[in-house]
Amino acid sequence: MKSPALKEAATLWQQGNAEAALAVSAELVAEHPVDVDAAVFYSGLLLHLGRYEAARDWLEETSIQNPENASLLSNLSVAQRKCGQVVEALETAQRALNLSPELLAAWNAFLVALIETDQGSKAKAELRKALRLHPDAPSLKHLLLQLEKTANDSATAEANILANSLIREAQGLTASGALGKAETVYRQAIAVQPDNTYARSGLGELLLLTGRPDEAAQHLAVALSRLPSNARARHLFAVASGSPPSFASPEYVRDLFDGMAETFDNHLRESLAYRIPEELTDRLTELVGDDLGEVLDLGCGTGLVGECLAGHCDAVDGVDLSAEMLMQARAKRRYRRLCLSDIGRFLDEEKQLWQTVTAADVFVYHGKLDELFGKIQRALAPKGLFGFSVEVTTAEGFDVDPKSGRYRHSRQYLQETLQAAGLGDSRFFETTIRHESGRPIAGLIVVAGKHA
Ligand SMILES: C[S@@+](CC[C@H](N)C(=O)[O-])C[C@H]1O[C@@H](n2cnc3c(N)ncnc32)[C@H](O)[C@@H]1O
Repeated sequence: MKSPALKEAATLWQQGNAEAALAVSAELVAEHPVDVDAAVFYSGLLLHLGRYEAARDWLEETSIQNPENASLLSNLSVAQRKCGQVVEALETAQRALNLSPELLAAWNAFLVALIETDQGSKAKAELRKALRLHPDAPSLKHLLLQLEKTANDSATAEANILANSLIREAQGLTASGALGKAETVYRQAIAVQPDNTYARSGLGELLLLTGRPDEAAQHLAVALSRLPSNARARHLFAVASGSPPSFASPEYVRDLFDGMAETFDNHLRESLAYRIPEELTDRLTELVGDDLGEVLDLGCGTGLVGECLAGHCDAVDGVDLSAEMLMQARAKRRYRRLCLSDIGRFLDEEKQLWQTVTAADVFVYHGKLDELFGKIQRALAPKGLFGFSVEVTTAEGFDVDPKSGRYRHSRQYLQETLQAAGLGDSRFFETTIRHESGRPIAGLIVVAGKHA
């Protein structure tokens, strides 16, 4: 039977006046230390008001005098847990449950303590027992939802970790030319996470490289449906479906090179045997001697051309749209200026003229070159030289290598387009641009001259 003072305190609490209810119940427990209802109410209010330490201290003392009261122990367990004593909280809740195996408050305290001591699977099993006793208790339903979410989250986190490590392994295998193994590992990553956009686009890229564009398109389409902003998947999907754009989007180029800037020099020099910067410098200096004047290096990347030009020119300016590549170039300290820009936009805005313009391995991202050649012609000083490299095709005009997604140009297209842009005096030198997956990629170094 509740005392009138306790009823008053309960009414005050219901009316939202918790502080007044606390004052009334504090008096009550001081006057009647054996009134267990009052003690449970008072300690519950302390917890409600967030006075956890006060609740813990008071309950520890009170439950010594009332060791058989499961409600007090349940409150004590909550107070201990809130004070960071989770192990003690679990023991206290267990004692409360032993005393009163059906008490909902004891179950709540016990289950939360189990979760907070990282015993999620035990908590799940115990929660089933609690739900048999209290099938409609909202607190238990809430805990069930929480446990399911945690289980899903940790399963997703585990799948993420596994899929990411498989993708990294597959990328490494691709880079080392072990394409069969890489395909197997990409497929394992997809089995773990069918919607993983990087696994799908990685496998798509690999399938392109191994000459299976139709299959590649399917995986790239999944990657794109999950992440439409994935510019790399978008470009390769267009290539795989046989309708590439006339040049690669700046987003694609930026993503690609931002991602490989740190390893670029090593990868190109060591794995791909890339020597175009040296060859281009040789071809230019053979023609005009050791003074190339002021040079503009378009798509300068990490600055390999700037390094080769050192000692052969007055100054080199570089432009590139990858900030990460430019950072590597800056560290080489060979460039007078380095600009973060699309080369077309840069040429539109610049008023300066250069004696030499270079573009090494840049037009593999540009199919149609007429506009760009016109802008380069305007940026060249009279009698200036324009030296660049391309991958070569026997098709008419330009096309895209269906394996790599890079653009290739025919000699005739280059001759005609240079001529039309006022850069008619051109020479062509056959070369190997790089070795990829063991195959040499045929290319041309072109040096074109602007008339006086
Ligand atoms: C294969 S790398 C070559 C880098 C350097 N020329 C060399 O030979 O080491 C191609 C570079 O061209 C840049 N690039 C491609 N298209 C570009 C554009 N439209 N505007 C600016 N930079 C571009 C890329 O960001 C990348 O750094």
